[in-house]
Amino acid sequence: LVLTLLCTLAAYLLGSLSFAVIVSRLSGLADPRTYGSNNPGATNVLRSGNKKAAALTLLGDALKGLIAVGAVRLLAAPLGLTNEDIAIASVTVIVGHMWPVFFGFKGGKGVATSLGVLLALNGWMGLAVLAVWLFVAKVMKISSLSALCAALVAPLACWLFTQNQSWLMAVSIIAALLIWRHKSNITGLLSGKEGKIGQKADPGN
Ligand code: G3P
Repeated sequence: LVLTLLCTLAAYLLGSLSFAVIVSRLSGLADPRTYGSNNPGATNVLRSGNKKAAALTLLGDALKGLIAVGAVRLLAAPLGLTNEDIAIASVTVIVGHMWPVFFGFKGGKGVATSLGVLLALNGWMGLAVLAVWLFVAKVMKISSLSALCAALVAPLACWLFTQNQSWLMAVSIIAALLIWRHKSNITGLLSGKEGKIGQKADPGN
């Protein structure tokens, strides 16, 4: 139990590193929570016009998901951790990203971090869900719509590729949280107001 709690805490703290805010600060950009969609995520950092900062945000946020879950998986055999521990760490790193203790609990929507988590659980599952994101992004050029479609497919992909019940539970919870965090995007999509990927934020917005 102590080990489970330690892994959960570590995953939460790692998830709490909001790379959108960290990279923006280091690059001298405005806080992404103050422009565009106000979301600390790679899509919104791209609205600053700084592609490198957006790419670094995507990489950092994905890597923390990959590392948190990958580490628990690697430690599972030597420390006697279970698939349930891996499932809990998967959800907790996302919770950290969405409600980060280091950044006033104002976090992101969890897309990049979820990709890292999925890749760590099962590479094929991660790639299949990424393919859905890329396909919708290529056709529709809307980041949130791509993420929502990927989230809907993720539990199915999890069942196909892992057939692990606790992981399916974790991936379903992550998908539900991700969809919940896209409430404003869903409203924007329904009213046709959701912008295309790479469109810059209105100055002063
Ligand atoms: O990365 C989150 C994405 O799906 C939507 O971001 O900034 O358009 O709300 P945003």
